[in-house]
Amino acid sequence: MSVKRIGVLTSGGDAPGMNPCVRAVVRTAAYHGVECYGIRRGYNGLINGDIFKLDEKSVSHTINRGGTILYTARSKDFMTEEGQKKAVSTCKFLGLDSIVAIGGDGTFQGARALSKYGINVVCIPATIDNDISCTNYSIGFDTAANTAIECIDKLRDTMQSHERCSVVEVMGRNAGFLAMYVGLAVGATAVLVPEKDIDFEHDVIEKIRQARFNGFSHYMIVVAEGAASASDVAAKIKDAIDLDPRVTVLGHIQRGGVPTGRDRINATKMGYLAVELLLAGKTNRIVCTNAGSFTDIDIDEGLAKKKSIQQIEVDVLAAMTGL
Ligand code: F6P
Repeated sequence: MSVKRIGVLTSGGDAPGMNPCVRAVVRTAAYHGVECYGIRRGYNGLINGDIFKLDEKSVSHTINRGGTILYTARSKDFMTEEGQKKAVSTCKFLGLDSIVAIGGDGTFQGARALSKYGINVVCIPATIDNDISCTNYSIGFDTAANTAIECIDKLRDTMQSHERCSVVEVMGRNAGFLAMYVGLAVGATAVLVPEKDIDFEHDVIEKIRQARFNGFSHYMIVVAEGAASASDVAAKIKDAIDLDPRVTVLGHIQRGGVPTGRDRINATKMGYLAVELLLAGKTNRIVCTNAGSFTDIDIDEGLAKKKSIQQIEVDVLAAMTGL
């Protein structure tokens, strides 16, 4: 398998660290004398031929930029066979033999479709949800978590002054990884995640009471968007114990900002490894990091894996919240 021209795209929800990842792909390709092309707006760019040449200089000063310079999209057209065929014909016409696809599960499914048409593909996990099962870590999670932590620390100041209860909704789609991590880091009174059945009386009301007995007069409830809506949780708290919680939905602010050092380094290593894998003749792979080292896995195998909240997080939360 010869690799002459690599295309790189970002797809799905953006994640801080996508830019350093694109930069690493471009620079590693240049280092090996391979041409590299940016594909705009995810798979839509492949369908529409929205593709431009990148060299080592075109990615200068991007290592510290949030968002993605390639733009991103969740392409509906690419989900159809017609869209996929158009994308493949763009690749053939331009001589793009290989694609590095940066994003989440949906992005990987798209890459798998391309690979069935004979395009070499390597995927890189990037989503603030950190819900890609074959990897411990996805680019963007650390920055998003730190953004949420900073916001909640600020909220706590005013909740404390007014002796209020706050219900904060954290992103994560159907997963609670971000909410659990953030909840533990801010010392939340309670954390609700979709992976754990919720017993409202035990998991929220009793925890608020416990905090009260421990001398607190303000309460911070963190809820994953996939578990419940913050306004429903607030209404239920009001009904049960007549507190009047303030609701904050952190929303898309969690997806922005300068990538942290951890995200820059992981993004850079993963971008580098993606190109090295292609040059080593590998295709249909996902770059992963597990137990502190970097590996790769077949896309089908990777997508079939399942992961959940770690038991230690559940246990630590129980210990920290006194129940
Ligand atoms: O997957 C990343 C994510 O930010 C999720 O946490 C969230 O549910 C979703 O994307 C929001 O998508 P959109 O940007 O389309 O509103």
